[in-house]
Amino acid sequence: MNSVLVSVGAALPKKCVLNSELPAHLDTSDEWIVQRTGIHQRYIAGEDETTVSLATAAAENALSKGNIPPREVDLIIVCTATGDYTFPASATLVQRNLGITSGVAFDISAACSGFIYGLKTADCFIRTGQARCALVIGAETFSRIVDWNDRSTCVLFGDGAGAVVLKASECDDKGLVYCKIHADGSLANLLTTTGGVSISQNSGFVKMNGREVFRNAVEKMHCSLCDLLKANNMTVNDVDLLVPHQANKRIIDNIVEMSGLNPEKVVITLDKHANTSAASIPLALNEVSLDSCKNVVLLSMGAGFTWGEALLKL
Ligand code: UT7
Repeated sequence: MNSVLVSVGAALPKKCVLNSELPAHLDTSDEWIVQRTGIHQRYIAGEDETTVSLATAAAENALSKGNIPPREVDLIIVCTATGDYTFPASATLVQRNLGITSGVAFDISAACSGFIYGLKTADCFIRTGQARCALVIGAETFSRIVDWNDRSTCVLFGDGAGAVVLKASECDDKGLVYCKIHADGSLANLLTTTGGVSISQNSGFVKMNGREVFRNAVEKMHCSLCDLLKANNMTVNDVDLLVPHQANKRIIDNIVEMSGLNPEKVVITLDKHANTSAASIPLALNEVSLDSCKNVVLLSMGAGFTWGEALLKL
């Protein structure tokens, strides 16, 4: 049994904020943000938009593109660090919004690596016969947990949601043929929040040692790519599309240069979406045509540290 990709969907908040429209008190500039990150704009959730509303819209979009009735879905995983409530899980609220009353629904907290953690988890459910049709959703409203007085973090993040539908298939040479996830908690302090439910009774704000996170992101995602290629007896030339986590264009450029991959095969959406954490990979997948692709590689790295790599054969 294998998990095949059936469809992809996405949802973005209505409001788009250009670098030049960021609050004046931040003492930043379009030039600095573009040069240091590649980000030109981000979408910011309005009062009527939340992680669950965006996740629901992305899920509906993916289901309608795949022509799948919601009642077929028996597993919903929402990958997020910015869920609507402490509990219940955002996934159960998405389930309710979709009108589904059976199956399994839960959230995964692995920060920016959440989506690959979600794919791996859904794949395990499918391979062991516990699910046949899974919605894996990356959804975030990081605008609600960044410190809007800290220019070194708030300019980097955006809100949005992306969703994929995975189905059980007997076809072993297609689908999620390889997926590995990793963690190293000794690096937790490099990217964290200033609080949390049990520590401060609030969510706290994003706090990051940018340079160290940058260095680790390049090293770990490059290593992930090399391991994936080796394990699947592939070279960079066999990769049709690389969809890396969208945090900083310079991180991606470094990985591409180190690996010798043709830059034209790399999907970049951070210019439009900024860093949407767990939503960045499915949002990026939704932006490209997968029609002529056979081998799609996904790479992520996030707080924890957590990281992961996946090979989707289409
Ligand atoms: O999703 C996974 C987690 N996130 C990441 O992967 C992000 C990883 N890190 C990065 O992308 C980069 O480290 C940043 C974009 C966060 C920072 O870029 P950098 O080239 O490492 O800059 P820096 O932190 O070394 O700061 C350089 C200068 C500093 O000024 P001084 O001390 O040299 O005078 C900062 O205060 O840039 C200043 N600076 C800014 N200036 C204008 C920091 N943020 C800004 C800003 N606008 N928004």
